[in-house]
Amino acid sequence: MKQTVVPKNLKVAVIGCGNMGASIIRGLVEASFYPQNLHITDSDAKKAQALKRDLGVKIAKSNRQAASVADAVILAVKPQVLDSVVDDLSSALPESALIISIAAGVPIARIQKHLKDKNPVVRVMPNLPALIGEGISAYALGSGSTARHRQITELILKAIGSAVEVKEPMMDLVTAVSGSGPAYCFLLAEKMIEAAYELGMKSDVAKKLVYQTFLGSAKMMVAGGDDPDTLIARVASKGGTTEAALKVFRSRGFGKVVREAMTAAQRRAGELSTQGQGNVHRR
Ligand SMILES: NC(=O)c1ccc[n+]([C@@H]2O[C@H](COP(=O)([O-])OP(=O)(O)OC[C@H]3O[C@@H](n4cnc5c(N)ncnc54)[C@H](OP(=O)(O)O)[C@@H]3O)[C@@H](O)[C@H]2O)c1
Repeated sequence: MKQTVVPKNLKVAVIGCGNMGASIIRGLVEASFYPQNLHITDSDAKKAQALKRDLGVKIAKSNRQAASVADAVILAVKPQVLDSVVDDLSSALPESALIISIAAGVPIARIQKHLKDKNPVVRVMPNLPALIGEGISAYALGSGSTARHRQITELILKAIGSAVEVKEPMMDLVTAVSGSGPAYCFLLAEKMIEAAYELGMKSDVAKKLVYQTFLGSAKMMVAGGDDPDTLIARVASKGGTTEAALKVFRSRGFGKVVREAMTAAQRRAGELSTQGQGNVHRR
């Protein structure tokens, strides 16, 4: 896990210690954030206590108390309870505190509406591999954000993987690409394992082959700097086995299927965020 140079006095509140909140807290401590500067809360006391026991972070008495001391407040609760959480802590926030919301499909404007003061808001779309420190988060800065807010946001998001800045209108497409993206990878892996089994391979052997194929291929894409197209050409020799497989993918319109699927995800993300009920489990 990456070690980061963290300002000694940077205080972060994390509201909600579920899947994402806990991953962020663990990532922050591993990335050298000072545990005594992490003020956490959860309506389920056991979740917060387990993190305090493991990491030495502080449990705040309430969301308001956590927010009152923070330079940045990470909102890691479900979208359905976000409005009431923001309403409650709004008047306790220091004026300069940055609000970082990871709630899927909740626009910055909706959060700002519930804030008493004009605290800067950042909207983030993380993805599931954040749970193992390998996520990719896209973030959009709201109005009034400064270079310092960008720096704090990146410092926090890089503790759970990588981060990229986008404009807020891009968030629905981000959801279709990297938010839902892990499921596309899992689907392809599942279908490869099923096909290998049907063609005569034991499924535990197929799983091992497929998982490591994904891992190795992902590492080559990230590290090597070559486009997928170039990498494909390195596997597919003329008249060979890979070319035979690729011909089938292409003749069946694989690219078109992927584009249609992502268009559907993007459209659905837009619908959910306008309905004010964005929810990762509906992605
Ligand atoms: N999971 C993902 O892959 C993913 C990806 C992208 C974005 N997100 C976003 O991340 C956010 C959190 O998702 P999650 O999967 O981590 O959900 P989660 O596991 O349900 O965690 C949310 C936690 O917040 C607690 N909570 C509820 N109301 C609270 C309150 N008033 N004050 C303090 N804590 C409260 C919940 O406790 P109870 O269980 O007792 O209610 C729960 O422990 C969501 O907004 C989601 O859209 C998640």
